[in-house]
Order: sequence, then structure tokens, then C-alpha cells
Amino acid sequence: MPHEPAPTLDDVIAQRFSRRDLMRGAAATALAAGLGPEAAASEALPGFDFPELAAGVDEHLHVADGYEAQVLLRWGDPLFPGLPAFDPARLTPEEQERRFGYNNDFVGFIPLGSDGDRGLLVVNHEYTKAELMFPGLGATDRKGVIATLSSEQVAVEMAAHGGAVVEIARRDGRWAPVIGSAYTRRITARTPMAITGPAAGHPRLATAADPEGRWVEGMINNCSGGVTPWGTWLSGEENVHYYFQGALPAGHEEARNAKTMGLGKPQYGWGRFHARFDLSKTPNEPNRFGWVVEIDPFDPASVPKKRTALGRFKHEGAAGLTAGDGRYVVYLGDDEKFQHVYRFVSAGRVGATRVDNADLLDAGTLSVARFEADGSGRWLPLTHGAGGLDAGNGFGSQAEVLIETRRAARLLGGTPMDRPEDIEANPKTGRVYVMLTNNTDRTPAQEEPSNPRAANAYGHVIELQPDGGDHVADGFRWDVLVACGDPAKKAVGATFSTLTTADGWFGMPDNCVIDGRGRLWIATDGNSRRGTGRADGIWALETEGPRRGTSRHFLRVPVGAEMCGPCFTPDDATLFVAVQHPGEPDEEGAMARYETPSTRWPDFAPGLPPRPSVVAVTRKGGGRIG
Ligand code: FEO
Ligand code: CA
Ligand code: CA
Ligand code: CA
Repeated sequence: MPHEPAPTLDDVIAQRFSRRDLMRGAAATALAAGLGPEAAASEALPGFDFPELAAGVDEHLHVADGYEAQVLLRWGDPLFPGLPAFDPARLTPEEQERRFGYNNDFVGFIPLGSDGDRGLLVVNHEYTKAELMFPGLGATDRKGVIATLSSEQVAVEMAAHGGAVVEIARRDGRWAPVIGSAYTRRITARTPMAITGPAAGHPRLATAADPEGRWVEGMINNCSGGVTPWGTWLSGEENVHYYFQGALPAGHEEARNAKTMGLGKPQYGWGRFHARFDLSKTPNEPNRFGWVVEIDPFDPASVPKKRTALGRFKHEGAAGLTAGDGRYVVYLGDDEKFQHVYRFVSAGRVGATRVDNADLLDAGTLSVARFEADGSGRWLPLTHGAGGLDAGNGFGSQAEVLIETRRAARLLGGTPMDRPEDIEANPKTGRVYVMLTNNTDRTPAQEEPSNPRAANAYGHVIELQPDGGDHVADGFRWDVLVACGDPAKKAVGATFSTLTTADGWFGMPDNCVIDGRGRLWIATDGNSRRGTGRADGIWALETEGPRRGTSRHFLRVPVGAEMCGPCFTPDDATLFVAVQHPGEPDEEGAMARYETPSTRWPDFAPGLPPRPSVVAVTRKGGGRIG
């Protein structure tokens, strides 16, 4: 437990959330009065106002003129007192458990106190890149890496996965971690977690280590996430299939499920040392991953909970908001080609305290989105016994519907999308933004209005408008806000507003965030020198008025990296971004090397590899960003 008393929910609410929830409340009131979301958005959203950054690719991180970027937390930085300087050549698993993990993705900020100068940063550590972490590996391909790593190195990898809770404080405009904070926590691929909700205790989750199917060691490949109004952190397990080696026993009942989740293409060698990551020995273990995990960052001793009610698939994010009637709504993307967009609506209403909401996400309705060609859409509930989700189709219970969410969603008629990544609802307008990153496998015969381009290399952004502005309504209207890519190349078919400059367009939208004024910021994954002539980064995208669809470049990452995180402080004075896998080669499929990275950002020290890092961006002299 923390040494200082954890803030009560009132404290938390008093800081970030009540302000936002009050706005939501105001919007909800307007909606209840039949005014619709347009009326609810009584104040017009201001346009972006910052000098545009030049697109490009080099070894450094760049931000728009008038702004500065401070590296706040790097892989290997000590989070606890008494640790020596970081030396990757001597990194032990025990040390890695006490240092910032690898490949930071989601970043959430939960304020502490009332002055805005303290908060908890919650960060996902999605995955590891052994070839950029360990010197002298020698392997030249993935198979080589899997076969080469020692059990000690695998243990370091497991300790570098998961997430971190880091208290940070701002002094003279600069943020720094509070080493020795009682809140500090590392969560890893070994942290004990509870499995909760409808699938908990199902025999298909049971293993020799956990015959009850209620406990699991760790979370893996946690990509994006969300922060709830009650101050917890939601973290989505994404590409969990990469961690399992070996083959299921012949004729095993999990074979169909394994195929749907893409098992059989291991990227990690953990199964050489841990039987639970070997399918031939522990065939049910994959069913224990691929969930949304809820973590209470105020109590480092709390047990993280895998919330099975939110479904099992390759979860990207888990951002949500409180609906007008008080139920909690989480929008969820399943990041794979031809997978789906989901929505979870809690059965209960958001209560006043963290304790009241302790089990809120264990009961509710998960639905899959169906996009109709006429611009309407429907949420199709994944409810056992309805719509063919029954024993006849191999679904014996709601638990099985959730364990095989993808198969259930397809059966119901959910629309197969172009890799749904982050989804964010805008509390100011009531509209919802879906990042669809790309899908080069879509054929011309598979073009349809919500995924309008075959061989979609650059992705698109869809805007949803819930019917009546109500996030628990069964229906919605939708529109493609922008088809991404270079508008100057006719064949690409990009649809940015003509006000967008040659620096302002982007490809491969991945993460997104809505700032305090209700404006949309997008982070990308997959731009490159050869592909789009630009590094990944942050673009600000206008959603309102005559500038709708106009994009402007704000920040770009060093070569090889993707851009994750984006997260604003409640005062919009700091934008936290996560720079993931800097130093990879600038071409698809090439193997990164510790000895010859494409950049040594952020340290540029000859003995140090590149380090994934969280960066704090502020305006020179202070003030709101953008
Ligand atoms: Fe981890 Fe879908 O990105
Ligand atoms: Ca992502
Ligand atoms: Ca987000
Ligand atoms: Ca991505």
C-alpha cells in the first residue's frame, strides 16, 4: 500500500474527471432534451494554431517551432531508489523489474492533488525487441533470435513487458519521475492477475497451474488502453499469439480457436523455458491472454483483473466514457486485417467511488459494429443464445462467446474492417473516431463504403455519430472522415481537405487522443522514408467546419520508431507521447541490430542502444498546446 493515503475518488474527480464528466453531463442533458450532439457542442471547437512541422525522416525527434520535447522516461531508467546507472550488457531480470520497461505504447495521466503539478503516469510496455536490447546476439532472423536467447535473457524480456505506474511531478515547467514514490509499480509478464467476469472459471481457461481458471501469470503485448473516470487503467492485450510455440496435440478442441487467433507463428522463445508458452504442453494457456486488464494504480499491491466481459481478441485500446444514463461505455478495436470494431456497455451505472466501481466491468453487453452502405450502422450484441451464438455453433455459454469473440462477431455479421486500432469518443461533440490503420489484403471485390479502398496501404479514419447522441443506442451514423495517404498521388485516393499541406498528410493512423478543447490528434505507425517519405509522428486533424479533414504535422519520431501514447494533461499544457522501437531499419522486413541501429536516440552514446521513451512536449514559455 502507498505510504501516503491514496486519494479518494473525490480527489480524483476534483482533478481531471469531474471537469470532463460535467461536460459529458451537460452534453447528456442537452441530448436528453432532444437537442442532439450538435446542440450539445454549444461551444465551437477552436482550430489548430501552431506552425507546421516539416515532414521527413532522420535520427532525431522533431516538434513544431515554439514547442519543446523532453525525454521523461527511457527503457532501463530506474523507477526505484538505489539502482546503478543503466547498462544493457549487465541487465538482470531482477533489475529490469525495477526499471522502466521496453516499447512504451499507451500512456495515461491521472492527476494527484489539485495544483496540476503531480500525477500518475500509467504506461503499457507492449513488447520487446531482443535484437535491439542485447549486445552480441548474432542472430540474423527471428527464428535465430528465438533459438538463441538464454533463459536469463527471456526472463529480462518477460520483466520488460507489462506496464508501469510512475508518479511524476512538474517543477518550473519540467516533469520528472518521483523516485521513491509509494505508487511506483512495475507489472510484468509474471505479475499474478485475476480472471474475472463471465469467462472466469471456465474449463477452457483452466491449466495444470490454475485448475480453476481464475488466476494467470502476467499480461503480454499490452498495446493501447484507457483511463476510467474512477481512476483505474485499462490495458489491452494485443498480439498475444506471438508468444506461444509448439503445436496443439492432434485433433485438439482448441484448434479452430487457435487458428482464429493466428497461433502458430511464434516471435518469442519463451516456450523453450516455460511450459505455459508451449502449446503442446499447455493448450489452454492462450485463452488466458487477449483480454482487457483493469489495474488500480493507487494501490501497488492490488491484483490486476482480466475483464473477460470485454471480449478476447487482439485488443488495441480501451478508451471510454460515461453515457448519459450513467452506464460506462468502452470502444474497442481488434487490430488485425478484416477484424472488428466493438463496444462494451456496462450493466451497472458508474458509482461515486473506486470501490463502487470495482466490479463494474464484469457485467455488461459486448457488441460488434455493422456498417451499412447507406451510412447507418448497428451494434450487434454478442449474447449467448441469440443470433446463432448457441451450442449448434459451438458456443456452450456466454463464457465461450467471449473466449471466441472473433468467431461470434463474424457469425453475427460484424463488418470486417481494415485493422481497427485506437477508438476515442469526443465528449464535446458526442462523436467517436475510429483509426483504421491499413489492410493491403483487401481485394477490389471486398471494397465497400466503410472500407472503400482495395490494397489499403495508408488506412482511414471513420467518424461515428451515435443515434440521438446516446452512446448506448443500438444504432449510429458513420462517415469516412479521411482516407489517408498522399493526396498528390491520384491513385492513392486520399481525401484530406485541400487545405492540407504537403507536410500535413499522413498514412497509417494508429493511436489518437481528444484534447481538453475537443480536438483530435492522431499518432501513426508505419510511415517510412521509402513508404511515405516521412517518419511516424503526431498530426492534428480538424473535425469541424470548413477546415474539416485538414491535417497538420506537429511532431515526428526518430527513424525506425512508431508513435504511440498521445495523452494530454487536463490543462492541455503537456502532451505525453511514447516513442516505440526507435532504431529499427527504415524498411519493412529488415532485421534490426543492437550493434548497428538506425539511430541511437535519445542518448546518442556509442555504448548505448536506442531506447524506447516517453517524451513530454510543452509550449516554450508554457500554455495550451496547439
Ligand atoms: Fe500494438 Fe495495433 O498496435
Ligand atoms: Ca497501436
Ligand atoms: Ca487513445
Ligand atoms: Ca500499429
